[in-house]
Amino acid sequence: MSPRADDQAVEVVIEAEDLRVWYGTERGPVRAVDEVDFTLRRGEILGLVGESGCGKSTLGRGLLGLLPEGAARDGALRFLGTDMLTLSRREQNRLRGRELGMIFQEPLTRLNPLMRISEHFAETLRVHEKGISKDEVKRRSLQALRVMGIPPTRFRAYPHEFSGGMRQRLMIALTLVLRPSFVVADEPTTALDVLVEAQIIRILHDLRDTFDTSLLLITHNLGIVAEACDRVAVMYAGKIVEIGPAAEVFRHPQHPYTRELLRSTISLSTTGLNFIEGAPPDLTTPPPACRFHPRCPDAMSVCATREPPALDLPGGSRAACWAAAARHDLVTLDAEESAPLEREELSVADEA
Ligand SMILES: Nc1ncnc2c1ncn2[C@@H]1O[C@H](COP(=O)(O)OP(=O)(O)OP(=O)(O)O)[C@@H](O)[C@H]1O
Ligand code: SF4
Ligand SMILES: [Mg+2]
Repeated sequence: MSPRADDQAVEVVIEAEDLRVWYGTERGPVRAVDEVDFTLRRGEILGLVGESGCGKSTLGRGLLGLLPEGAARDGALRFLGTDMLTLSRREQNRLRGRELGMIFQEPLTRLNPLMRISEHFAETLRVHEKGISKDEVKRRSLQALRVMGIPPTRFRAYPHEFSGGMRQRLMIALTLVLRPSFVVADEPTTALDVLVEAQIIRILHDLRDTFDTSLLLITHNLGIVAEACDRVAVMYAGKIVEIGPAAEVFRHPQHPYTRELLRSTISLSTTGLNFIEGAPPDLTTPPPACRFHPRCPDAMSVCATREPPALDLPGGSRAACWAAAARHDLVTLDAEESAPLEREELSVADEA
């Protein structure tokens, strides 16, 4: 990294403030990401977890400006200090090739069957780094292959000589060889499923150590988050309800949704996370105030009328929950506000 006067600014790679992303639909806007705030530092791995449909992929794509027609975003989003929401499409495309990368759930194969792997790397590097030497191409390519667990002896092979999972790892290596500052990996499971958890964790650590890349890792595998991520963000119905150091969040979850999510996964040890009673809300008409209140075992009357503020808690986490805030004496609730939410309200909201 070149020395810069403002090291603090250099260290923060992604900064989202009140970021919102919505899809225009016939039923009205689907608010898939709603007032999300977080920062990501250089080399940091942030895990993003939550039930299906809570907005994880939308947030990942929204950060990279890779949204479909009809989707919109607002709020503030800075990448290395540059305001991403006011950049022209051309400037965004330029950044995406080189500085921003996305590893998809099902990466589309853009491998040319007639080109050797070495040629794919050479082409990718030459497009983005004009004048790069042959030796440097080879060095960088072998390094990216090593990180993805592909031996250097396969460098001159053709794509058809690899298994499906290996081809997907090659695609990831082709993203990483450019040393992007920020990568979103959206459940890179098909590529990595063939590996045991320990190998995936090693790859993620290698990735950080070798490339200094900041990574948003979207996954249903909480074991990997616990082992490989520095921090974890828990998303519910379009909002980040808790974010903090992974070890702290796993040991002392502050938000009832985090607690239930961890409990359901630990008890069933499966990749699905839909085991919390009730269903996530329709994001065209989310519940008022705390969006989790219809399903929350700890819900109080205040939870259905006022949105909980996101507050920094001892231990380094931030959570948006009235019960957590009251537990740490950060708010004072009167007797009426802190009364348990009426059962009828729970079932009515559940059905809504
Ligand atoms: N192109 C689209 N048009 C309209 N609504 C969409 C579109 N894509 C996603 N959504 C809606 O936005 C919400 C968030 O979807 P998203 O795919 O971001 O969730 P997710 O957390 O990634 O889920 P999963 O774990 O299943 O991948 C969902 O309600 C989904 O139905
Ligand atoms: S704010 Fe209330 S309803 Fe929401 S998670 Fe906290 S206790 Fe539960
Ligand atoms: Mg998704």
